[in-house]
Amino acid sequence: MNFSLNIHEPVKWIIENSFDIDLKWNKKQIEEHFSNKKSFNIFYKDENVLRGVILAHEIFDDNRNYECEILHLGVMKNYRKMGVGFQLMQFLEKKICLNEKITSIFLEVSKQNKIAIKLYQKLGYKPYRERKNYYKNLLDINAIGESAILLKKIINE
Ligand SMILES: CC(C)(COP(=O)(O)OP(=O)(O)OC[C@H]1O[C@@H](n2cnc3c(N)ncnc32)[C@H](O)[C@@H]1OP(=O)(O)O)[C@@H](O)C(=O)NCCC(=O)NCCS
Repeated sequence: MNFSLNIHEPVKWIIENSFDIDLKWNKKQIEEHFSNKKSFNIFYKDENVLRGVILAHEIFDDNRNYECEILHLGVMKNYRKMGVGFQLMQFLEKKICLNEKITSIFLEVSKQNKIAIKLYQKLGYKPYRERKNYYKNLLDINAIGESAILLKKIINE
């Protein structure tokens, strides 16, 4: 088992495995993410096969500080509940701690995603905002969508 900050042809791997890691981005969004200089990604390999990924980026908070936003955490369906997601998150934190400019990690997750929320809370992430009706149904704009929760962990205080 090991972690890498980059892999050969990451865009290709993400596109081919997006269903298995529950990523709902299209090809253009994936390509744009990987061409962004501020993007920050971690891949988890076991026996040289990729099992999971964190897609993140650094964003400017104020004049001095940066925040890291996790855009997606995904583990291949057959490798869930084996500690991969937890270890990816711990590895991200260790990396972030080495960069003193970054003061926090935050993310947005659907309120219905109890599994992910449990994982983030186990790691010490705290909810700080809720966006009601955030995930709209594009086919029925009058339908009530799922709410999103924003979670944050302060790092390098
Ligand atoms: C969320 C996800 C990344 C978890 O990855 P994972 O490798 O299966 O998680 P882990 O095995 O590391 O579990 C860590 C903790 O998460 C929680 N958890 C994970 N799977 C769970 C499940 N099926 N039911 C309840 N809690 C669960 C538990 O708190 C667990 O700790 P524990 O084993 O001590 O109880 C994975 O389910 C996934 O890829 N889901 C689809 C994508 C997604 O929803 N991403 C998050 C939104 S950005």
